[in-house]
Amino acid sequence: MKRILLVLAIVTYFINKALAEVTASQCPTWQCQRGLGEDQTGTNRTCARNSGTSNFAEECDLDNHFCLLEEPTLQDSQNCEQVEVLSWKRDLPAGDDCGGLSTCYGAATCTTIQNKTRCAGLQKGDECTDDRECNPGLYCKKGGVFASDKCDEVAKQDQECDNDFRCEFGTQCVNSTCTRFGNLTVGTRFEILDNKLLGTITKDTLYNTTIGRVCETFFAFNTGVKSDNGNFLFECTEGLKRNFEIYARTDDNLDCSFNHTFSNGTSTEYKYNAVCGFNIDEYFYCPSRRGADEYGEHNRRARDIWASSQNLTCHHRSSIQYCPAIQDNFLWNKAFADIRRTEFITEGDNWPLVANSDRCVGRTIKKTMNYWRIVESSYSNFIGLVALSAFITSFMF
Ligand SMILES: *[C@@H]1O[C@H](CO)[C@@H](O)[C@H](O)[C@H]1NC(C)=O
Ligand SMILES: *[C@@H]1O[C@H](CO)[C@@H](O)[C@H](O)[C@H]1NC(C)=O
Ligand SMILES: *[C@@H]1O[C@H](CO)[C@@H](O)[C@H](O)[C@H]1NC(C)=O
Ligand SMILES: *[C@@H]1O[C@H](CO)[C@@H](O)[C@H](O)[C@H]1NC(C)=O
Ligand SMILES: *[C@@H]1O[C@H](CO)[C@@H](O)[C@H](O)[C@H]1NC(C)=O
Ligand SMILES: *[C@@H]1O[C@H](CO)[C@@H](O)[C@H](O)[C@H]1NC(C)=O
Ligand SMILES: *[C@@H]1O[C@H](CO)[C@@H](O)[C@H](O)[C@H]1NC(C)=O
Ligand SMILES: *[C@@H]1O[C@H](CO)[C@@H](O)[C@H](O)[C@H]1NC(C)=O
Repeated sequence: MKRILLVLAIVTYFINKALAEVTASQCPTWQCQRGLGEDQTGTNRTCARNSGTSNFAEECDLDNHFCLLEEPTLQDSQNCEQVEVLSWKRDLPAGDDCGGLSTCYGAATCTTIQNKTRCAGLQKGDECTDDRECNPGLYCKKGGVFASDKCDEVAKQDQECDNDFRCEFGTQCVNSTCTRFGNLTVGTRFEILDNKLLGTITKDTLYNTTIGRVCETFFAFNTGVKSDNGNFLFECTEGLKRNFEIYARTDDNLDCSFNHTFSNGTSTEYKYNAVCGFNIDEYFYCPSRRGADEYGEHNRRARDIWASSQNLTCHHRSSIQYCPAIQDNFLWNKAFADIRRTEFITEGDNWPLVANSDRCVGRTIKKTMNYWRIVESSYSNFIGLVALSAFITSFMF
C-alpha cells in the first residue's frame, strides 16, 4: 500500500509538473541521510533516494564521483557516477594547484614540489599558444601587431590593455585600461576588452558575473549601445531589484518579478518562475539575483577584499579556488570563498533556501556542486563567515 502511494505521489508529481500545475506541497524536500550508500564506493553507490515527498541524499565516496541530478525531482534512486575530471578542474592555468583529479592547460604540467602539486608553466620569453600555459603574471602575447607568440608580462592596474594585451589578476580591461574589480561607480558605462575570455558578446548577453566584477555593485547590464570599437557598452547598475517580499511561494503564485533600471531611468521588468529547489521545506523558491539593495554588505566586503589583494601572485585566469596564494592562506581563503559565493548568486537557477540545506545534500547536487565546493568549509557556519569576513576586512587595513 505504501509503495502504491509512493508511486502515485511520484506519478502525480510528474503529471502536475507537465501540466504546469504543480503546487508547492508537491515540491520534494531534501534531507541528508547517512548510510544511504552503505559501504559501497564508486559508481554503484546510492547517493540519493526518493521516499514519498522526501528525497534523501548523501555525498559520494570517492570524492571524484558525484550524484548526477539534473532536477530536484527524483524517481526512486540515483547512483554516483564517475566523472574523470570535474569540469572546473580541467585546463587549470599555470600556477594553480592540480591536486586530486585535474588537468593543467596545454604545456603547463602538473608537478609535485615539496608535496605540493602545481601546474608548472612557461617562463617569460618561452614560446606559447595560450595564456594559461604561461606562469602567473604572464600571458601569451598572440594576435595584434606586437604578437611574439611568447610569454610576456601582463599589464598592471591602470596600465594600457586591449584584446591582445592582458591585465593582471584582480583587474579587467575596461576602455583599454586595467581596472580593479569593484572600481566603477553605478551609472558608468564601459566596454570590456578580453574576447579571449569572454568570447563574442552579443546583445543577448544581458549580464555576466565576469563582466560585472569591475563595478562597485559587481553588476553590469548590457546597454545595447555599441562603442566606437564596435563592442557593446555595459553599464554598472544596482542590479535586479525584486518586486516581491519573500522568496518562498505556495500554490499558483509563481511569478518572481524583478526590475532592472538604467541610470537614465529606463526600467524593465524581468520575470522568473519560482521552482522546486533542493530545499528542506516544501515551498517553491524564486531565484536569487544580486541586487545592490539586498547585497550591499556583500558588495562592500568584496570591494575591500579586491582592493587589498593587489599583491597576490595568482594567474589572471585562475579560478581563485586553486590559486595557492589564496588556497594556502586561511584568511584569504575565507575572504575569497565569500566572494565566490556572492558571484554565484547572480548566475543560474539558484534557490535562496539551498543555503539552508544540509551540506551533504548540497554537495550531492551537480548543479550546485561548484557552489558547494567553494563554500564547503565555511558553509556550516554561514553567520560565522559573515562575522569572520568583517573581521578579516578590518584585519587587512
Ligand atoms: C551494486 O550493488 C548491488 C546491491 O548492493 C549489488 O547487487 C551489485 O552486484 C552491485 N553492482 C556492481 C557492479 O558492483
Ligand atoms: C611529504 O609527505 C610525506 C608523507 O606525508 C612526509 O613524510 C614528508 O615529510 C613530506 N615532505 C615534505 C617536504 O613536506
Ligand atoms: C578606481 O581606480 C582609480 C584609479 O586606480 C582610483 O583613483 C579610484 O579611487 C578608484 N575608485 C574606486 C571607487 O575604487
Ligand atoms: C568608456 O568609454 C565610453 C565610450 O565608448 C564612455 O562613454 C565611458 O564613460 C568610458 N568609461 C570609462 C570607465 O572610462
Ligand atoms: C560569463 O562569461 C564567462 C566567460 O566567458 C563564461 O564562462 C560564463 O559562462 C558567462 N556567464 C554567463 C551567465 O553568461
Ligand atoms: C536608457 O538606456 C537604455 C540602455 O542603453 C536604452 O535602452 C534606453 O532607450 C535609454 N532610455 C532613454 C530614455 O534614453
Ligand atoms: C518595472 O518596469 C516596468 C517596465 O517594464 C515599469 O512599468 C514599472 O513601473 C517598473 N516597476 C518598478 C517598481 O520600478
Ligand atoms: C603591494 O606591494 C607593494 C610593493 O611591495 C606595496 O608598496 C603595496 O603597498 C602593496 N599593496 C598592498 C595592497 O598590500
